[in-house]
Amino acid sequence: QVNITIAGGGATHTPGIVQALFESRDKLPIHELRLYDIDQQKNDDMFVIIQEMMKQLKVKDITLSQTTNPKAAFSNVDFVFSQIRVGDLEMREKDEKIPLKYGLVGQETCGVGGFSYGLRSIKGLLEIVKFVQDYSPDAWILNYTNPESLIAEAVRRKYPNAKILNACDMTISIEETIARNYGYERKNWVAQYYGLNHFGWYTSIFDKSLGRDVMPEIIQKLKKEPMKVASFNAKDPSWQDAWNMLTKNLQLFPDYLPNNYLEYYLFPDIVVNNSNPNYTRANQVMDGRLKETKELAAQIRSNHFDDIHFDFGEHGNYIVDMAASIFNDSHERFMLIVPNVGAIPNLRADSVVEIPAYVGCTGAEPISMRHPINNFHKGLMEAQDAAEKLLVDAYFEHSYQKALQAFTLNQTVPSADKAKKVLDELIVVNKDYWPEL
Ligand code: G6P
Ligand code: MN
Repeated sequence: QVNITIAGGGATHTPGIVQALFESRDKLPIHELRLYDIDQQKNDDMFVIIQEMMKQLKVKDITLSQTTNPKAAFSNVDFVFSQIRVGDLEMREKDEKIPLKYGLVGQETCGVGGFSYGLRSIKGLLEIVKFVQDYSPDAWILNYTNPESLIAEAVRRKYPNAKILNACDMTISIEETIARNYGYERKNWVAQYYGLNHFGWYTSIFDKSLGRDVMPEIIQKLKKEPMKVASFNAKDPSWQDAWNMLTKNLQLFPDYLPNNYLEYYLFPDIVVNNSNPNYTRANQVMDGRLKETKELAAQIRSNHFDDIHFDFGEHGNYIVDMAASIFNDSHERFMLIVPNVGAIPNLRADSVVEIPAYVGCTGAEPISMRHPINNFHKGLMEAQDAAEKLLVDAYFEHSYQKALQAFTLNQTVPSADKAKKVLDELIVVNKDYWPEL
């Protein structure tokens, strides 16, 4: 039996993860579930919601608890799922809006907004890793906290032996979305993919039941018309812009199926034009998911609610499947963010890449690509990877100069002058979070 702590337990993604945990008890026999958050109110709301879920789904013999105390959260635990968001949605809003003021992409993980978040996030995640090393050194940390490449790089430098897997649900969400739009069964797929986090390409998607690579036909369909259905939340139309841009990307570069996040690097001007500088994704999430969650907790407390509807998509399943693959040593295949060390032979060994890996009781066994990647992708990745390395240097060395270089090298930024202006403004608003530069 395993004990699991969700760090960032108060986040709106928690019910999806918990539902996946409840559904996976045959392969991951969970004994204790703990919610850890520094925000007592949010953690409390989530505790109430999960308690109600347990009642409705008739889940018994799991001990549910919540705490803001690291020792209570991380002692005697087997898995820690991290989804902390340092600075919460209030700071996400600033990461998005400040770059937009300068005509730059305003996004939580890509562009300079992502770098702003990165300098906050690294500190938060290093703290979690330290807690786990102190209180449960054998536990696995499965990390969803963004921006993942930056975090992976920082944790590797400070705690090279940490038991951590960095994973992102985007590839699986893209696959599921494609499968649902075009009538495939994603579970039959073996995908080849490479890149950095939120920055990569599929090179083939082999369908086991059809016995062929279905990527070429998918590209043909996607090139003609954007997808209409999102996998994660069918009622949430907000991903439509992303699918439109994915189609645009494929019309220009039709050889590889791209991760939709590449839109920020390849079409920053169009993305900025399509953005509302006064109402960004952070506002959508605050007025949507966050508000609904608070209301639901209030309704449960006062006993005025209908059945809760659970429709969470792949996000929760992915992290739970990973834990189960470690627990059972079942070597299932996941897209993970790992040091390259030769997997992509013509890329520097210390790049932090996102590639397929098998996962078992000793962690990740990344799959070597066995062939070099093309110069277009290589150049894009090298610039981004170098920018991220400079930012992590800036974090550890307290270097303004390195931070400025990182911001300037980011491919969403056209001028060093703008890089400096936006960096200086972000330093001011992040004074409680960033290391001193
Ligand atoms: C995907 C990405 C995550 C990201 C999330 C944002 O799941 O893989 O890294 O955090 O989208 O979703 P949101 O609804 O918060 O904008
Ligand atoms: Mn992600």
